[in-house]
Amino acid sequence: MTPAQVRIVEVGPRDGLQNEKALVATADKIALIDRLSATGLRSIEATSFVSPKWVPQLADAAEVYAGIARRPGVHYPVLVPNEKGYERAREVGVEEIAVFTAASEAFNRKNINAGIDESLQRFAPVMARAREDGVRVRGYVSTVLGCPYQGEVPLADVARVAGALHEMGCYEVSLGDTIGVGTPGKARAMLRAVAAEVPMAALAVHFHDTYGQALANILACLEEGVAVVDAAVSGTGGCPYAKGASGNVATEDVVYMLHGMGVDTGIELDALADTGRWLAALLGRDSGSRVAKALAAS
Ligand code: HMG
Ligand code: MG
Repeated sequence: MTPAQVRIVEVGPRDGLQNEKALVATADKIALIDRLSATGLRSIEATSFVSPKWVPQLADAAEVYAGIARRPGVHYPVLVPNEKGYERAREVGVEEIAVFTAASEAFNRKNINAGIDESLQRFAPVMARAREDGVRVRGYVSTVLGCPYQGEVPLADVARVAGALHEMGCYEVSLGDTIGVGTPGKARAMLRAVAAEVPMAALAVHFHDTYGQALANILACLEEGVAVVDAAVSGTGGCPYAKGASGNVATEDVVYMLHGMGVDTGIELDALADTGRWLAALLGRDSGSRVAKALAAS
């Protein structure tokens, strides 16, 4: 049954901006996050404390995080790949992090220079310190519906990695279709397989829209009972280490669909669409949201 309320995790400032060729000014990143928090969003992934050699676009993570006007009740998670990232994040007062790995060995090696089990071992000290510090930890599993290097990814591998992250203490595990190859039947089957290992209330879905299937996949997963959906304003996004990956599903499009279904998100769609158009103008292109374009024309 479709849930009555859905929490959106806005990943535009992180997933969106990590893949931009043009440099976005630190002040604009901060303005984006503050505009997003004014729309009613309660979870906004702000940036990544990864190696600046690997992702130069987010080298200003500390400055961005320190510059946000933190709104009470809003969570601002950041990506952390290792202890060094954890320390950098804590220096500026981060209270929620996300660790990330994949169901595919080949993708993991390209993205974080480690195999799956090695990456889980790398997270163990981060999890221990987070527990001690009262820091919330979200987990990501990438390539849940296909890998650009390995191809098919067995459902058992997705369920195993999601189960391991949950077991380690991630309060929520987000399932990423990194290259957007999934279709609704496969998305549903994948979610069911994972939900046999991890409670549905601790799962989120994260669809890239490369093949235009993201909204359909989200609907199939909502019908399975998932109530947390990742999305990026204006459909920005993509992983620099996933060949062929394109933007995330646009937050505006997800919110329009949910509101149309009578599902509450707590988000003001007009304010969100304005922010998406502002970001698109900043990046020098059209909004990646069909809804934002339609609203502007109406
Ligand atoms: P490595 O090269 O194996 O690690 O990278 P290393 O420990 O040898 O470090 C290399 C250099 O980076 C060293 O500097 C370290 O100090 C430094 P040097 O000694 O050469 O001067 N370094 C750091 N600096 C700052 N912060 C850090 C840090 N760590 C090391 N945290 C590593 C391993 C994991 C660091 C690297 O591979 C990395 O940063 N990868 C991140 C890649 C990434 O961010 N990908 C995109 C996010 S995942 C995604 O988009 C998918 C998702 O959206 C879900 C989905 O769609 O599926 C979440
Ligand atoms: Mg992603």
